[in-house]
Amino acid sequence: MLEIRDLRTGYGPIEVVHGIDLDVREGECVALIGANGAGKSSTLKTVCGLLPARSGQIRFDGQDITNRKGHAIVQAGITMCPEGRQVFPGMTVMQNLRLGAYARKGADLDWMLDMFPILRERANQAAGTLSGGEQEMLAIARALMSQPRLCIFDEPSLGLAPKIVAEVAQTIASIKAMGMTILLVEQNSLMALRLADRAYLFEAGEIVLEGTGAELQTHPEVVKAYLGH
Ligand SMILES: Nc1ncnc2c1ncn2[C@@H]1O[C@H](COP(=O)(O)OP(=O)(O)OP(=O)(O)O)[C@@H](O)[C@H]1O
Ligand SMILES: [Mg+2]
Repeated sequence: MLEIRDLRTGYGPIEVVHGIDLDVREGECVALIGANGAGKSSTLKTVCGLLPARSGQIRFDGQDITNRKGHAIVQAGITMCPEGRQVFPGMTVMQNLRLGAYARKGADLDWMLDMFPILRERANQAAGTLSGGEQEMLAIARALMSQPRLCIFDEPSLGLAPKIVAEVAQTIASIKAMGMTILLVEQNSLMALRLADRAYLFEAGEIVLEGTGAELQTHPEVVKAYLGH
C-alpha cells in the first residue's frame, strides 16, 4: 500500500534521512523503532507532505504522492496522529472531532463516540481540560474521522502513565483488528514490536534492520539497545 524508495529528506543544509526503503502492506501494522534523532518522525512528516523529500519516491496504492501537499495526502487516504496529540485545547471534543472530518466527507461521528465512550461523556468539554490519555484518545479518534486507509501514529504513548499506555496499545490493536493499515513510531519499543507485524530499526537516518515484530523482539542488537534486558 505504501512504498518508500531511496527517500532522502532533511532540514536546511542538513540531510537527516539518507535513502531509506520501506513498505507497508494493506492490513499490516508496521513499526519504526530507533534512538532519538534517528529520523523516524522526519520520515513520517515526509510521507504526510509536511517535510519535502529531497529525492526518492513515495507511492500509495501505486500512485506517486511524493511532495504532494498535506491536504492532498489526507484526501488520498493517509492521516497522521501527530506527536504530542496537538488537539485544539480551546475547542470542545466534538469540535475537534468535526475538524478531523473536514478534509473528507461522510465520517460517522456516532460510530466514533461508540468506539470511544469517554469522548461521548466529554463531548462538550474543552479538549484542553482532558487528561493526557483522554487527549490521546481524542487525537486518535480525530485521525480516524478522516476515514484514512493508512493511519500513522507518532509516539502515541509519549508522556502517559503505564496503565494509560496499555490502553492506548489496546486501542491501536483494536483499530488494527478492524482492518486498518498502520504505521507506528514508538519510543516504547516493546509496545511497538508487540503490536507490529513487521518493524524497521532506524539508526542515524538509515534503516539497519528489518524483520517481523517477533523477530526483532528477540534480536540481540535490539534487545541490548532498545529493550533493556
Ligand atoms: N524542525 C527541525 N529543524 C532542524 N532539524 C530538525 C528538525 N526536526 C528534527 N530535526 C533533526 O533531524 C534529525 C532527525 O529527527 P527526527 O525528529 O526525525 O528523529 P526521531 O527519530 O523522530 O527522534 P525522536 O525519537 O526523538 O522523536 C535529528 O537530528 C533532529 O535534530
Ligand atoms: Mg520523533
